[in-house]
Amino acid sequence: MEGQIQRGLYIATFGCQMNEYDSKRMEEVLYPSFTPVASPEEADLILVNTCSIREKAEHKVYSLVGRFRALKEKRPGLIIGVGGCVAQQEGERLLKRLPFLDLVFGPQGIYGLGHAVKEIEEGRGPIVLTEMVDGFEIPPILRSMPTPSPIRAYVTIMQGCDNFCTYCVVPYVRGREVSRPKDDILKEVGTLVESGVKDITLLGQNVNSYGKKRGFSTSFAELLREVASITGLRRLRFTTSHPKDFTDDVIDAMAEGPPICDHLHLPVQSGSNRILKRMNRKYTRESYLEIIEKVKGLLPDVSLTTDVIVGFPGETDEDFKDTLSLLEEVEFDQIFSFKYSPRPFTKAAQYPDQVDEKVKSERLTQVIELQKSIGLRRLSRFEGRTVEVLVEGRNPSREGELVGRTTGNHVVNFEGPDELIGQTIELMVERACYHSLRARMR
Ligand code: SAH
Ligand code: SF4
Ligand code: F3S
Repeated sequence: MEGQIQRGLYIATFGCQMNEYDSKRMEEVLYPSFTPVASPEEADLILVNTCSIREKAEHKVYSLVGRFRALKEKRPGLIIGVGGCVAQQEGERLLKRLPFLDLVFGPQGIYGLGHAVKEIEEGRGPIVLTEMVDGFEIPPILRSMPTPSPIRAYVTIMQGCDNFCTYCVVPYVRGREVSRPKDDILKEVGTLVESGVKDITLLGQNVNSYGKKRGFSTSFAELLREVASITGLRRLRFTTSHPKDFTDDVIDAMAEGPPICDHLHLPVQSGSNRILKRMNRKYTRESYLEIIEKVKGLLPDVSLTTDVIVGFPGETDEDFKDTLSLLEEVEFDQIFSFKYSPRPFTKAAQYPDQVDEKVKSERLTQVIELQKSIGLRRLSRFEGRTVEVLVEGRNPSREGELVGRTTGNHVVNFEGPDELIGQTIELMVERACYHSLRARMR
């Protein structure tokens, strides 16, 4: 383009859906100077989009970046950058630890990538883009890339977080909460749907407080309805909901049905009121269960999922039992469970009563074991039933098989022809597994 050779871009993405969205944005910012390639060996620019939610996530980054160093030794022109939450957390310090890096950039630095890469090529590296501006807004959609559109896509509706749960690093690495204007969101979803996307997930650390801080006249439930009315959109999801801000009008919007999906991810973290208080979650076990009851009342077949932390500082056997009993009471379709991991800047990392690593591991095993039986029981409700499945593609681990998803976000594997990809079809469920369903065409 403009007489320039296109160079290869390889992005390795860690962490949550926000990072997946951001990686897509990096591709857009750098196009057409750089186009995505399939492997780091083919790339002229390698970016690692990092996560620092737990210590383990952070470690993964260092080992991967270390491997890319060998490529740079062979090809000195190769540019290597580290972005995302670890980059924001560490800033300049990363250059000391990884001196061969050319670029360190936080989530807000994405939009300066084009300029930064030019500077590096002209010998003015390394560059650090980790300044955070309060009220930073994601620029509206940039350009659509000439790549085949996926079936599913994410759209960020708000950045950052103001909640300061005492275990969580996100408010420090993502900055304060800022909602995007509704028109930007609608336009972005519209463009994606036009290009063939059928399943959209609206993203934010706390989607239920959408627009409140900025005084937008549109509430989250209203935004959901407006996005839902976009022609051609088959499925609409959202994550993450925070129980303290979750309101009945969202349940009402969900009850209106497709394209809004029959799925709610509502992280509970702990079943003990004492621990919830220490986590600064601002809801109780009772108020959480009240929401669940209402949701189940209006959406009897809803798929519920949650996040759980075990071994938060001060968590006793009694507190932990409260978490187990909550899991039994709610019966989630799936849970994501984590051992508490002390994070930089956070309050809980300073608490004196840290739980022994061995106890954390034992509790995690118990939670996983319990959920295995609950999950299987929950998914068994589909056996012998017909479900509507949006076909997403080939099953990468079994030849001749396709993979799709139900409205409740259950993965479905079945044998079928490639022509079905992108279509919504009815399948007969034969068997439930822990995390997926096996089905056949009718
Ligand atoms: N904004 C979302 C969650 C974002 S992080 C919410 O409020 O629910 C995703 C999950 O990671 C959290 O729900 C929590 O369960 C887990 N998590 C966050 N910080 C953690 C830490 N320090 N140790 C272990 N798990 C953590
Ligand atoms: Fe972290 Fe809490 Fe914000 Fe979620 S709501 S991102 S857990 S601080
Ligand atoms: Fe990780 Fe940052 Fe997401 S810390 S979970 S990538 S917001």
